[in-house]
Amino acid sequence: MALIAPSLLSANFLHLEADCRMLNESQADWYHLDVMDGRFVPNISFGPMLIDFFRKATTKYLDVHLMIEEPEKYVEAFHRAGANGITVHLEACRHLHRNLQQIRSLGIKAGVAINPHTPVDSLNDILQEADLVCIMSVNPGFGGQQFIPHTLEKVRQLRKRIDALQLSTLIEIDGGVTLDNASTLIEAGAHVLVAGNTVFKSADPKATISALKAC
Ligand code: DX5
Ligand code: ZN
Repeated sequence: MALIAPSLLSANFLHLEADCRMLNESQADWYHLDVMDGRFVPNISFGPMLIDFFRKATTKYLDVHLMIEEPEKYVEAFHRAGANGITVHLEACRHLHRNLQQIRSLGIKAGVAINPHTPVDSLNDILQEADLVCIMSVNPGFGGQQFIPHTLEKVRQLRKRIDALQLSTLIEIDGGVTLDNASTLIEAGAHVLVAGNTVFKSADPKATISALKAC
């Protein structure tokens, strides 16, 4: 059964308290928190201060997705704010091995995300250092975009490699996940489904989370 990680980027920020309550009562496994710096991606979202509020609002796993340059400067602040896992982008890290080690040294899960144009093979020499690989199925920066079809094949490739190496690395798929493609993604090998618009723009977000969980 896949882990469901609703992305709060699609939430109504005037209703965050109610949305946290909804998530806490729901079958959501993780909170997915998208941090954007206006440099690595063409959008700015939020930083450690908001993560700190989420930490006080839930005991669920806080999955922090850093779409920022020079993540090493901020990893400790996100850890202090209460992140359970921090994911950095391969494309933003000149010293990815060091970045992942820095995160692991804090006693939390280290993740690496790859953009739609980055081949799965780029991860060959780093898989052992990652607790999670996030395959971006949209170009990072905004919620509510269309799933990019060829990324499905990347999930299959990565799952094959992880299984062959007998690693326990989790595969997360992020962007354009819907009730229509969720089961195909799980069959392809995804362990974690991130869903923003599908959850928060639906008439009954809690029921939508249950429907995703049932895929
Ligand atoms: C995109 C973010 C995603 C996004 C997902 O840059 O990393 O997590 O919020 O939103 P949906 O599910 O609406 O594509
Ligand atoms: Zn994300």
